[in-house]
Amino acid sequence: MAQNAKITVHPLFETGEISKRLFSAFLEPIGTMVNGTMFNPKHPTADEQGFRGDFLKAIKGSGVPSVRLPGGNFVSAWQWKDSIGPMNERKAHLDPAWHQYILNDVGHDEYLQWAEKVNTEALYTVNMGTGTIQDAMDLVEYTNHEGGTYWSDLRRKNGHEKPYGVKMWYLGNEMDGPWQLGAWDKNPEGYGHKVLETSKAIKWIDETIETGVCGSSAPFMEGFPSWDEAVLDKCYDVVDYVSVHHYHSAKPGDIKALLGGSLYYEDFINTEAAMIDYVQSKHRSPKKVYISLDEYGSMIRPYQELHPGYGRYNMARNHYRFDPERKYILHDPDNMKDHVFPGEEIVRALSMASIQLAILRHADRVKISCMTGGLAAIAEADHDHVWRSAAHYIFMDLLTYAKGISLQTKVESETYDMPGYAIEDTSQYTGKEGVNFIDSASAYDKENDRLTIFAINRNEDSEYPLTIDISGFEGYSIKNAMSLTANDLNDRNSFENDALISPVKIKEKTFENGELKTHVKPLSWNVFVFEKA
Ligand code: AHR
Repeated sequence: MAQNAKITVHPLFETGEISKRLFSAFLEPIGTMVNGTMFNPKHPTADEQGFRGDFLKAIKGSGVPSVRLPGGNFVSAWQWKDSIGPMNERKAHLDPAWHQYILNDVGHDEYLQWAEKVNTEALYTVNMGTGTIQDAMDLVEYTNHEGGTYWSDLRRKNGHEKPYGVKMWYLGNEMDGPWQLGAWDKNPEGYGHKVLETSKAIKWIDETIETGVCGSSAPFMEGFPSWDEAVLDKCYDVVDYVSVHHYHSAKPGDIKALLGGSLYYEDFINTEAAMIDYVQSKHRSPKKVYISLDEYGSMIRPYQELHPGYGRYNMARNHYRFDPERKYILHDPDNMKDHVFPGEEIVRALSMASIQLAILRHADRVKISCMTGGLAAIAEADHDHVWRSAAHYIFMDLLTYAKGISLQTKVESETYDMPGYAIEDTSQYTGKEGVNFIDSASAYDKENDRLTIFAINRNEDSEYPLTIDISGFEGYSIKNAMSLTANDLNDRNSFENDALISPVKIKEKTFENGELKTHVKPLSWNVFVFEKA
């Protein structure tokens, strides 16, 4: 018999304000994310720029606040200047990061105009691999300056009269990674100095903008967290965010490790926050720098062969490989055959949701987060259609209800131990003891007198009786309770049936003296909305 689980929240125990950008997405031109899903001039719904209308409409309808674009490794050698102006004058280049041709048919203006059409904020990543300070200055001038200069007038000539007003500029992508073109892994001080000078220069061009400096691209990185500290120490005064990335992995079938992955995110966030505080103290600065977790994900992948004893060499072998067999890919946007629909939709959706809850719990430090594949989570797509996957409903719940203040959320539940494991040489996880089967976070929207508690049951075998104690919230009662789970692990939503895995009302519940009593199903996502009468 499963033990009763309990969640307690109190209005006085605030963690911090939830930023509007907290649940955003990341988009980069690899696989079919841009070519095929966002852009396919041959699609029946394509608009005059070749953007798929069905996808555009679905993303717009979601209200996703911001999208980091066109981000990722490719940006570190992307020459944005070759991607603007008349199509027939654009220059095609090789993208050595992903071994693909970049035709620039979706260029700088198209990315920003797609964001305008979707009504989302573009979070832009500057090439700090091969790009110069001057390139970054020209970029901001082209994008944000009213007119009367070469670059701003060129934007107007290219059809965008008004400045785009891009507010958030990331200065580089994963600059600590040896896989990055123009990486700074060996020279954090050099990168920090370049960021100092670039951020200063572009903020002098547009004083309203914010900038982010790269921290570690994973907690596994050799330099983490001292690389981050050395970088931030150089540029603390001129940046607003430290941009960090992390992808959690577990082997197929290891649901406990997959859903417990959010604990490693918590460690990562806590260390970055401590690192920021330390550098802030060193600088005697009143200014706060926040965390932007602008790429995150969870991956199901088999264990790979390990090469124990090689230390640094493992990293080098992974990243300085030269493979004459590897061919450059030319993407055909009308061909989505290589699109992969990863298995176990409910498990994947819950593993992402668990990371999202960890982010929400740290809303005082994390002000931006962008889910990799977040646009697909919102609107899954194949060559012809878009539809709602399980992750869509979860994302929408967070966009609707994770507003206001994040509250400390006390969970008492049965626990499990997660033994340590290694997926491959670089992705190694120390074991964790006492992982709560019930994962939870909450949001207190004072403006609307609404309290929302989100809860995941990580247990694949057991349903739990759950008590939610909100007795500190005077006059509040339960307004809505919803649960999402799958009847079968292999259930998968489709265009034909996108309600197979979808939220249903929780009918069996009682609410008395500030306590809600109900049950949460195995492997489920649950949302409890309380409002003041
Ligand atoms: O999304 C895949 C890649 O992961 C991104 O290009 C890069 O930033 C990260 O390593």
